[in-house]
Amino acid sequence: MRLRDRVALVTGAGRGIGKGISLKFAAEGATVVVNDIRETGQAVADDIRQAGGRALFIQADVGNRDDVKAMMERVRAELGALHILVCNAVCSTQDILQDNLEPNLRVNVQGTYWCCLEALPLMKESGGGSIIVISSVNALLGMQGIHAYSASKAALIGLTRSLAVRHGRDGIRANVVCPGTIQTEIWEPILKEQPHIWDQMVRWYPIGRLGTVDDVAHMCLYLASDESSFVTGAVMVVDGGLTAGLLEFGQLR
Ligand SMILES: NC(=O)c1ccc[n+]([C@@H]2O[C@H](COP(=O)([O-])OP(=O)(O)OC[C@H]3O[C@@H](n4cnc5c(N)ncnc54)[C@H](O)[C@@H]3O)[C@@H](O)[C@H]2O)c1
Repeated sequence: MRLRDRVALVTGAGRGIGKGISLKFAAEGATVVVNDIRETGQAVADDIRQAGGRALFIQADVGNRDDVKAMMERVRAELGALHILVCNAVCSTQDILQDNLEPNLRVNVQGTYWCCLEALPLMKESGGGSIIVISSVNALLGMQGIHAYSASKAALIGLTRSLAVRHGRDGIRANVVCPGTIQTEIWEPILKEQPHIWDQMVRWYPIGRLGTVDDVAHMCLYLASDESSFVTGAVMVVDGGLTAGLLEFGQLR
């Protein structure tokens, strides 16, 4: 058990990558606070408890500082500690595709900012911890038309590096994870319009497949555990080689 006696909070954990991280952490012994703006997080917490783990669902909007404060106060009151924070919540697919700046900044940037800032005091009291911020390959590679999402995800790298530098001596590490395409529910509205989009995207990936929730959860488990105790301020790509280069380059020879 790599996370025995740890308390972890995962935002946006009612489905997709956040759910996968929560289940993985719980299986490794952590008590998991499952956060989501929707009630879906309750079922994830129930699943963890049914499997013999410990979990608490807290419904809160990470873009609202009062909600985040109240969430951290509840963690302090009910669990007494916080060792791991995963900032994973993201605005809707529509807001990403329609390039709506406000929700991209409110949920992705402010949500992560408030969660980190409000978690720090409890993490320090808990003897240190690990902050994991879920960004995206879109922070590193330009993609047509989703400027606000790309900007929001790039901002998270600056925030995380700043936290790593400022809080290293407090025993708090902070790292970014940049996933490539991961097959989750966030893609459902796109798949309705373009049912073959995943097949088309596979061609971009040197490794020859798209990512799974477990691919990201395994990286987060490493960053949450003591195995990564010398890793802070790092940007970890989990992208099947997407950002390593272009497959087409080799085809010119
Ligand atoms: N799926 C991918 O291809 C992919 C690729 C790169 C990066 N990512 C990143 O991974 C993370 C998870 O993505 P996913 O595919 O699981 O997304 P998802 O849409 O399936 O899940 C996001 C969850 O966040 C919740 N949420 C939305 N607004 C919230 C708020 N204000 N407060 C609390 N919870 C809120 C939603 O209810 C949902 O359960 C995101 O940060 C995303 O940008 C995903």
